[in-house]
Amino acid sequence: MTDWLAALQTRRSVSARLLTGPAPDKAQIDTMLTIASRVPDHGKLAPWRFILIAGEARVTLGQQFAAIASRTQGITEPDRLAVEQERFTRAPLVIAVVSKAADHPKIPVWEQQLSAGAVCMNLLSAAAALGFGACWLTEWMAYDEAARAAIGLESSERIAGFIHIGQASETPADRPRPDLDQIASHWQA
Ligand SMILES: Cc1cc2nc3c(=O)[nH]c(=O)nc-3n(C[C@H](O)[C@H](O)[C@H](O)COP(=O)(O)O)c2cc1C
Repeated sequence: MTDWLAALQTRRSVSARLLTGPAPDKAQIDTMLTIASRVPDHGKLAPWRFILIAGEARVTLGQQFAAIASRTQGITEPDRLAVEQERFTRAPLVIAVVSKAADHPKIPVWEQQLSAGAVCMNLLSAAAALGFGACWLTEWMAYDEAARAAIGLESSERIAGFIHIGQASETPADRPRPDLDQIASHWQA
C-alpha cells in the first residue's frame, strides 16, 4: 500500500521525445489494457476501445498525417512535414483511447466521456507501475476528420487520448502542482 501511495504521489508524464524502446511486450500490453479498462463505467457500457499503433504502423500513419497536414494546413517545408511524419514514432508504442460515447436513454454522454478519461489515466498509471514512462497527448490529429479516419475511427467516435509509452530516457523534473487551498473548499450553508 505504501508503494502504491508513493507511486501515485510521484508519477508524472514523460515527454514523448524522451520515450525509447524496447516497447512493452504482449503480456505487458495485456496487463496495461486490462488495468486501463478497469474503470468506473456508469451503465457498464464500456464506451471506449483501444487502437494500438506500434512498429511500422507508426511510420505509415505518420506519412498519412504529413500528407493530410500538407493538404489541409498547407504545410510544405520539409522540416515541418518531418514533425508530422514523426508524430507516432517518438515512442515505441502509442495506444489510442477511443471514446464511443453515444446517446443513451439513461447514461449521459458526458459520463461516458468521463469514463474514457479514466481509462487514459489508468493506462498512464499501469504503464508507470510496469516501469514505463508515458504521456497523454491529443495534438491536432485527435480533432482532424481525415486524421481520425486514417486512424480507423468511425465518424461518431472521438479520441480521448494518444497514450505514448516507452522507456524513459530521462527522469523529468516535476512540474508545479495546484495549491489545494485554491481548489478545495468545504461546502457551507
Ligand atoms: C486530454 C489531454 C490532452 C492533452 N494533449 C496534449 C497535447 O496535445 N500536447 C501536449 O503538449 N500536452 C498535452 N496534454 C498534457 C500532457 O499530458 C502533459 O504532459 C501533462 O499535463 C503532464 O502532467 P503530469 O506530469 O501530471 O502527468 C494533454 C493532457 C490531457 C489530459
